[in-house]
Amino acid sequence: MHAQPEYLWWQDGIIYQIYPRSFQDSNDDGVGDLRGIMNRLDYLKWLGVRAIWISPIYPSPMADFGYDISDYQGIWPSFGTMAEFDELLDRVHAAGMKMILDLVPNHSSDEHPWFLESRSSRDNPKRDWYIWHDARPDGSPPNNWLSVFGGSGWEWDEKTGQYYYHAFLVKQPDLNWRNPEVERAMHDVMRFWLDKGVDGFRIDAMWHLIKDLQLRDNPRNPDYEETMPTYNQLLPVYSTDQPEMHEITARMRSLLDGYEERMMIAEIYLPIHKLVAYYGINEREAHLPFNFMLIALPWAPEQIAASIDEYEGALPPGAWPNWVTGNHDQPRISSRIGLQQARICAMLLLTLRGTPTMYYGEEIGMRDVPIPFGEVQDPQGLNMPDKNLSRDPARTPMQWDNSRHAGFTGGKPWLRLDKVFGRDNVQVQQNDRYSTLTLYKRLIDLRTQEASLRAGRYQPVYSDKQMLAYIRQSEDADAFLIVLNLSHRPCYFTPSTIRFGGVIEIDTFPEQEKSVVADSIPLSGDEGMVIRLESWAFQTSSIPGSLSAATTPVRPS
Ligand code: GLC
Repeated sequence: MHAQPEYLWWQDGIIYQIYPRSFQDSNDDGVGDLRGIMNRLDYLKWLGVRAIWISPIYPSPMADFGYDISDYQGIWPSFGTMAEFDELLDRVHAAGMKMILDLVPNHSSDEHPWFLESRSSRDNPKRDWYIWHDARPDGSPPNNWLSVFGGSGWEWDEKTGQYYYHAFLVKQPDLNWRNPEVERAMHDVMRFWLDKGVDGFRIDAMWHLIKDLQLRDNPRNPDYEETMPTYNQLLPVYSTDQPEMHEITARMRSLLDGYEERMMIAEIYLPIHKLVAYYGINEREAHLPFNFMLIALPWAPEQIAASIDEYEGALPPGAWPNWVTGNHDQPRISSRIGLQQARICAMLLLTLRGTPTMYYGEEIGMRDVPIPFGEVQDPQGLNMPDKNLSRDPARTPMQWDNSRHAGFTGGKPWLRLDKVFGRDNVQVQQNDRYSTLTLYKRLIDLRTQEASLRAGRYQPVYSDKQMLAYIRQSEDADAFLIVLNLSHRPCYFTPSTIRFGGVIEIDTFPEQEKSVVADSIPLSGDEGMVIRLESWAFQTSSIPGSLSAATTPVRPS
């Protein structure tokens, strides 16, 4: 018998993203806060997540709701005090959970003292902490780079007669990572929080950190369409994902390695082959470069199956996979594929090989909430009003119960709640066997109990236009077959490549649970099932070129 390998918390646990403005308000100002999170720790513990990632909680003018930081080592007063932060961290640890903070190294707020100094004069010692450049002879910006949030990436500074670069808002000037003092300052920030006991960082906009030394123009994107964000007009080949990124990431990693069991999960929107490079050679870079495949791909089983294979195959040795279904920048999964399919997606997320990151509210099937024009808060929505790009709909307050404002606040919520909160909330769903919350809770419990689901290998079994099926298996542990119908219409799972027998452990239609199944299964539309296998055998004869017609017993029946 082989001993099971040891897995670290960020490998076999589930990460839960909290958008602090919207999770729980404790002082009735309509904005969530740290004490609010403390008041909901029992719920998170009950749900069974291992770590919480909290979006930025630092002092900020809130132009980008905390992603514009004016002090990297403080707490925004509306979220609470440093003493409350320390208390929250202690309580998270006491509950057996871990805490990941957002680190925003690419840019600060234009109100950060570093930038105030930098823009004060051309010979200020901090001038070079940001990316300043002369205008072209005709007065136009140094190059054609665009801002993710619309318009040019360059802002003219009248006083000192130069442009500065901002990948995001004008109020979010990019730091100059070619200056070693900037890197040192950011490492000090990391140490500050790590010394307090924080367990890791989610690194914001990681692939943006360093830019082409010559500031060359980005090429046009031939696939651009009018409906896309204006940023997509160009391919950001010179403004993102530069080769120097890998040294920067490796240096952050060695800093983390100086502490015990700390980690970084990096926000990187890149195709698979470029993404996996951020694991580094010999695991010397990010522990987990976020894999956004389930967000980016069409909800089509064949494509998803192929991409899972591609990802599994591209992972460097020792690299641990991860999966994400939503975050504060993306439409919610139930608005993208519908609630019934979001339940299938939950089953996929929680049974794939690799760390799942879930976004608050996904577990109750929260959907995008339409925000009337006059109430739009998100700068991305405000800057490109005709493109329906506001991120507010996915950031509305958590729906806890059917009391006023869903138990989120006693005041006026900063963003309106979904009108259906009275029937779709944690309290109602906790008491409903058929609810999405119950489905999540049971999938999380099963994953926590079963070695095969946490760490077993991923074996593709079947995919077609409706279905996706795979096996998860650890040595000396029960194996599971997961069969998912990614469509609303019924279908049959009758694979010619495998014979199997087992019992349905979890089904999106719980009526089916405990049923014994073998070889062929009819599935309802929107049905997904996790089957505990009792026996199975791949039919090698069906593999073209196979010499033997014998089956391969993996585990004796
Ligand atoms: C990341 C964040 C997003 C923010 C941007 C600028 O993409 O997830 O919310 O607006 O960086 O910091």
